[in-house]
Order: sequence, then C-alpha cells, then structure tokens
Amino acid sequence: MVGIANFRNHILLPFLNKQHHLLFPPFDMSKEMEINLSKITLRPYKISDVDDFLMYGGNEKVTRFTRWNTFTSKQEVVSYINDYCIPHPYCRSICIENRSIGFVIIMPRSGDDQCRADVGYALAAEYWGHGITTRAVKMAISGGLKEFPDVVRFQGLVELENKASQRVLEKVGFLKECVLRKYSFNKGETRDMVMYSLLSTDFMP
Ligand SMILES: CC(C)(COP(=O)(O)OP(=O)(O)OC[C@H]1O[C@@H](n2cnc3c(N)ncnc32)[C@H](O)[C@@H]1OP(=O)(O)O)[C@@H](O)C(=O)NCCC(=O)NCCS
Repeated sequence: MVGIANFRNHILLPFLNKQHHLLFPPFDMSKEMEINLSKITLRPYKISDVDDFLMYGGNEKVTRFTRWNTFTSKQEVVSYINDYCIPHPYCRSICIENRSIGFVIIMPRSGDDQCRADVGYALAAEYWGHGITTRAVKMAISGGLKEFPDVVRFQGLVELENKASQRVLEKVGFLKECVLRKYSFNKGETRDMVMYSLLSTDFMP
C-alpha cells in the first residue's frame, strides 16, 4: 500500500469519533486510512511499552488465537515484558512512530532441531487489514536469517479457524504443509492446526 502525505498528522492528533468521544492515536486510527508500510519498524520491547501493549494484549479479539490469556492489568504486562519479551532471543515490537502496535517473534529451536524456528505475531485490532503484519513478518524473517544462521526452516502453526493469520503466512511466502487434527489445546478447546513452513532458500524479502 502507498502512504499519504499527512500520515504523521493523522497519527499524532486526537480526533472525535461518531459518538463524539475524543480518541487518542495511534489506536483509534480510521479504518479508511492507508498506512505507509515503510513507517513500520521492529525493535526490542521496553518497559515503557506497557500501556501500548495492554491496548492489544488486553483485547479479547486479539487474544482469541494467542497462546496467552487476555491481560487485565499493567502489572501483568510489566512482568510479561520483563520475564518473556526482553530476555527472548527475538521478540520484536511492531511500531509506528516508535509506538508499539503489536509484536512478532522468531523462536529458534536448539540441539538437533536448531535448523528450524517458530514464528508468531499479533497486531492491535485497530490496525488489521493494512498489510502491517505481512510486512512485519517479512522484516522479522530477514532479521532472523541474520541472527540465527543455523535456521533453514521457519514454521508457523495456525489454528484452522484463523484465516487472517494463514493469509499472512501465505503472503510472506510460507507453504501450507498439512492440517494437524486435534493437535493443540487453547482456551478450553482442542484445536485443529495448520502447519506452514518457509525455507530460507525460498524467502523473498
Ligand atoms: C492475524 C493478524 C496478525 C493479521 O494482521 P494484519 O496486519 O491484519 O494482516 P495483513 O493485513 O498483513 O493480512 C491479512 C490478510 O488476511 C485476510 N483476512 C482477514 N480476515 C480474513 C478472513 N476471515 N478470511 C480470509 N482472509 C482474511 C485479509 O484480507 C488480508 O489478506 P489480503 O491482503 O490478501 O486481502 C491479526 O488479525 C491478529 O493480530 N489476529 C489476532 C492474533 C493472531 O491471530 N495471531 C496469530 C496467531 S497464529
């Protein structure tokens, strides 16, 4: 997608929605707005991301398919950023103007499985459908290839129902390998999962 000249102003200024509530960016951006994908950056998490993280980590629409439960407090998020995100080998905050709007992770395996890495991601619901996650996953794979030279296979395990996530992987170039029936337990239900993979030799940034 192409950017618009006054993107910065739209991002930084609060505005009124139809119910005349004052909305503060970046989380209340108009769905009609086109995103300049070159403004998307990835960086490690900081504790100061706590409020932004809570906006998406605290949204059940976002956590429906994640392995973790919906966050309900700032303290939970602070612990999660400290204990999981910061020490993680590759957990990156997806940012616009340095504000966190989601995350992407690359988790390399170890020992005999060091040839492969798992990929995961989520984005604040207000930003869905603009190609942001596709862009972020491509950036993360580029980064992962540099940081983990032993990795030749990236894989994504997606719930069968999660069509948006499957589409993201397909757009990045992942190949659908199979459906793993009743493979995983999440949020009280056993789930069918789709296995996707991308070989380092097939990756096109
Ligand atoms: C999955 C998720 C990360 C996608 O983020 P996004 O930035 O909207 O993704 P993109 O815009 O790059 O691409 C989404 C694609 O899915 C498509 N899509 C969305 N909903 C869909 C549906 N119900 N059925 C089929 N395709 C769908 C979009 O049309 C788009 O494809 P297109 O570009 O060909 O039109 C986001 O929905 C999310 O955070 N979901 C909750 C967390 C999650 O599921 N994480 C992944 C766990 S495996």
